[in-house]
Amino acid sequence: MARVCGLGLLLVLLLPLVGASMPGMVFRLNKGTLKYVSDITKVPLQRVLKVTLPYFLVHSRGVIQPTRLKILSVYVYHLRLKFVADVGVNLLAAANFNIKVYRVREPLVLTLPVILMADVRVAQGPIQTPIVSVSSCNSTYGNITVLDGVNSTSRLGMILLQKHIETAFNNKLCLSVSSLVQFINVHLGTLIGLKPVGPESQIHYSMVNMPTITNDYISLDINAVLFLLGKPIVLPLDATPFMLSRNVGLRDTMTTLGLSQDLFDSVILLLQKAGSLNLDITGKLFSDDNPLNTSVLGHLIPEVAKQFPDPMPVILKARLGATPIATLRTSNATLELRPYIEVLAAASNSDFRSLFTLNVVVNLDLQLSVSKVKLQAATTLLGDIQLTVASSNVGNINTRQMHSLVSSVFEKPLLDHLNALLGLGIALPTVANLYYMSPKVFVYEGYVVISSDLFYQC
Ligand SMILES: *[C@@H]1O[C@H](CO)[C@@H](O)[C@H](O)[C@H]1NC(C)=O
Ligand SMILES: *[C@@H]1O[C@H](CO)[C@@H](O)[C@H](O)[C@H]1NC(C)=O
Ligand SMILES: *[C@@H]1O[C@H](CO)[C@@H](O)[C@H](O)[C@H]1NC(C)=O
Ligand SMILES: *[C@@H]1O[C@H](CO)[C@@H](O)[C@H](O)[C@H]1NC(C)=O
Ligand SMILES: *[C@@H]1O[C@H](CO)[C@@H](O)[C@H](O)[C@H]1NC(C)=O
Repeated sequence: MARVCGLGLLLVLLLPLVGASMPGMVFRLNKGTLKYVSDITKVPLQRVLKVTLPYFLVHSRGVIQPTRLKILSVYVYHLRLKFVADVGVNLLAAANFNIKVYRVREPLVLTLPVILMADVRVAQGPIQTPIVSVSSCNSTYGNITVLDGVNSTSRLGMILLQKHIETAFNNKLCLSVSSLVQFINVHLGTLIGLKPVGPESQIHYSMVNMPTITNDYISLDINAVLFLLGKPIVLPLDATPFMLSRNVGLRDTMTTLGLSQDLFDSVILLLQKAGSLNLDITGKLFSDDNPLNTSVLGHLIPEVAKQFPDPMPVILKARLGATPIATLRTSNATLELRPYIEVLAAASNSDFRSLFTLNVVVNLDLQLSVSKVKLQAATTLLGDIQLTVASSNVGNINTRQMHSLVSSVFEKPLLDHLNALLGLGIALPTVANLYYMSPKVFVYEGYVVISSDLFYQC
């Protein structure tokens, strides 16, 4: 695995984006990615270029002497990757090969400068994954310099030796680059799959069409599909294709990731369907800080005092009727929840009596963040919760009094619950060992942009 570190990173980014239908994402790799990839690719490239060389036949006084050649080291002193519009990535590597010639009389150490050029094509594979392949590759050579053993080197011998090594390199160097790319392809193919969101839910990414490749970036349109218990979450409305304009987020980060409103809607629909947004708050008797008991309610509602002469615990069951609404406005993400709360009192140890139900509106501010590979959110309350009585089995209810009681027992558990839930986050498109570095999240009208560098841990 360590072998493919580096050059692998770029390719890694292109592959794990797998899946089926609607909510859109755009994943854009900027020039900064190439700079980073070339920095960390040098060492693995040096390793694959250290090929074996065939014996060189030395003609000496009428005798043919097979001579062993060995690459002692490869030093890639310059590596440049650049985007090539409509193709993929062009690689230019300048390297010095130090080669030992095991001559009988006196070993020779020489240096051969090589320039390696390759085009790596990025395309869409048959199963909605990007695939990469070397579409053209060649090497050019400088002249051999002898480092050691100068004395007995004939000029003709050097020219023959150089020809011998070039022939071997012509066959082998491009194959090495190709096999590195192929190995990465195969290796990455195993990483396609569902990523867990919750215990029973997953997210699945896929590439929608051919990548858009310009001289400045590669952009991938990605579908994200969420699954609950193996079934896809389907938005009620036809989702609109998501596009990302050029000048969003930060200019100089390695990647720009655009997340559509549809993605947020899907996540919320998933949480709602999974029942994760439901919450029970149970009162305890003889507790100084939990006013959820019938004696406190009895002071506000005479009928409760009448029905429950002895103090009994009270339960709030908050359930979501309507789907919560996430709203994305410039620099501002909010979430509106409309739970109904059923208030029940214990009539006996196992039996609960419904007292009344409330319709509640809670507006929350969402602070989005990215941690390693996950998009997370934290919430705070925006303004006061609003509340109306939906139905009552205990007569008239003073909404104002109920408001302060419910606010005091509901708000904190709700925020704690949501923050724990949203803190789990959802996996963004990535693969093992690849992390988002110094990510910044920007909220725009109807979409979110993450500008981030990347860190590949070999
Ligand atoms: C060598 O390869 C590069 C990149 O693939 C290409 O642009 C160039 O034309 C090739 N040169 C020759 C002489 O084939
Ligand atoms: C290599 O050597 C030959 C002959 O000395 C010379 O003509 C040629 O310019 C040299 N090439 C390079 C790249 O230095
Ligand atoms: C090269 O030849 C010189 C003089 O003949 C000698 O002093 C020197 O040791 C030789 N060098 C090697 C590496 O054989
Ligand atoms: C009911 O709740 C109030 C307020 O938390 C508390 O002071 C009181 O002790 C509770 N009564 C019982 C019987 O638990
Ligand atoms: C975000 O929008 C909500 C609702 O429009 C508003 O109440 C809140 O003040 C806004 N927050 C910021 C930081 O602009």
